[in-house]
Amino acid sequence: MVEQMSSTSTKTEVGSYFISNYPPFSQWRKELLPEVERALASPPQDVPLGLYLHIPFCRKRCKFCYFKVFTDNKASDIEQYVQALAKEIELVSRQPVMGQRPFRFVYFGGGTPSFLSPRQLTALVERLRANINWDLAEEVTFECEPGTLREAKLRTLKELGVTRLSLGVESFSDAILEANGRAHLAPEVFRAWEWIQAIGFPNVNIDLIAGMVGETWDNWRDTIRQAIELSPDSVTIYQMELPFNTVYSQDILGNKIETPVAEWPMKRAWVDYAFDEFLSAGYQISSAYTVVKDSAKVNFSYRDNLWQGSDLLATGIASFGHVSGVHYQNKAEWDQYIGDLIQHERLPLGRALVPTPLQRLIREMILQLKKGYLHVAYFQEKFGVNILEQWSEEWQAHAAAGMLVTEPDEIRLTRQGLLEVDGLLPAFFEPEHRGIRYT
Ligand SMILES: C[S@@+](CC[C@H](N)C(=O)[O-])C[C@H]1O[C@@H](n2cnc3c(N)ncnc32)[C@H](O)[C@@H]1O
Ligand code: SF4
Repeated sequence: MVEQMSSTSTKTEVGSYFISNYPPFSQWRKELLPEVERALASPPQDVPLGLYLHIPFCRKRCKFCYFKVFTDNKASDIEQYVQALAKEIELVSRQPVMGQRPFRFVYFGGGTPSFLSPRQLTALVERLRANINWDLAEEVTFECEPGTLREAKLRTLKELGVTRLSLGVESFSDAILEANGRAHLAPEVFRAWEWIQAIGFPNVNIDLIAGMVGETWDNWRDTIRQAIELSPDSVTIYQMELPFNTVYSQDILGNKIETPVAEWPMKRAWVDYAFDEFLSAGYQISSAYTVVKDSAKVNFSYRDNLWQGSDLLATGIASFGHVSGVHYQNKAEWDQYIGDLIQHERLPLGRALVPTPLQRLIREMILQLKKGYLHVAYFQEKFGVNILEQWSEEWQAHAAAGMLVTEPDEIRLTRQGLLEVDGLLPAFFEPEHRGIRYT
């Protein structure tokens, strides 16, 4: 999280955002697309390869959501999208950058991939399998909105090779779910949970949000208690952000109302409490946002590979990828995305950026810091830079503020540092990328 509008305010202002990449997305340019085309057309570098597929449909738009989603979906739109996505995979699979590399990890993200029916899912996967497979992948993640799940659909997911389900639970309070525009209520989570247990998936994650509108201490305690009772393999706890494009943000700006989202210190206190409760229940903290029940079993291939500079082939509308050191994003407009693939049979590339070696180092450093520690030797070996020396003033300032401790071979965040890690990261941005719009 970065409190962008006013550095002294503790309020959750419109314009706050997660840092998920570097340099900021606002710097990516259409003019740099030839660089992606060149990277795709060249043999691969020796890094793991992942695949991201974006499914942009949802039953309802949650008032806090900032993703590219469509809610007024006709069956024909979905059919058209599935066709375009299959075409995209076909085109991507022919690119020399694929080399002989199997997919190490696959991620069906959204939007709501589980919005698709079993028939649509099977048809999609059959078309994809004409060109690719994920038989050697160590992780195949599939994001689900609980109310879209049925027993038959979950069986289909299992058959298609999904190893990790991630459920957007967010809260167990029906009043809060409803007020925030979620399409599901708590009973739908419990119903889906029984099927999930009966079918058996290697890994199941649930997402929670600290700072849903209407949240209270009593309710948050109850939400954490219920999450522990379900006993998922991992829990991701986000602090509510207000990027510009959410329904709440537009309401605050348009109607000049006070933000309805709790202040940052309150949200941090909620996550702090959640961490303590999960630790008492035998979980371990795996990053600023995640706790895991058994760290030997949960490996987060997608997150860990991405944060160590793996290649990620991005498919689907508006998705973000990275090949051979080049960042890129697909076109974000429906007609253009579909048109490029179906009419022109070309990749729907939208904008790109070629990070410098220093920018690649900064990217990995700030992303890995979200895990709570950095190994100095990793960066020395990979980039030839001693990060402790290169950013000595920044580490000192963060240490003086109680956010981290440094040792000769490791930088470790304190609990406080972990709770506000996104606020620590812009200090490592190059001067021209500080204080500019991120997305
Ligand atoms: C793509 S959704 C997960 C799958 C499915 N669409 C759903 O919502 O159930 C990813 C997650 O992002 C989180 N999220 C969305 N908007 C957010 C915001 N403004 N602040 C914090 N977390 C947010 C939610 O926890 C959500 O589960
Ligand atoms: S949070 Fe999930 S279900 Fe809600 S609009 Fe965003 S992607 Fe769709």
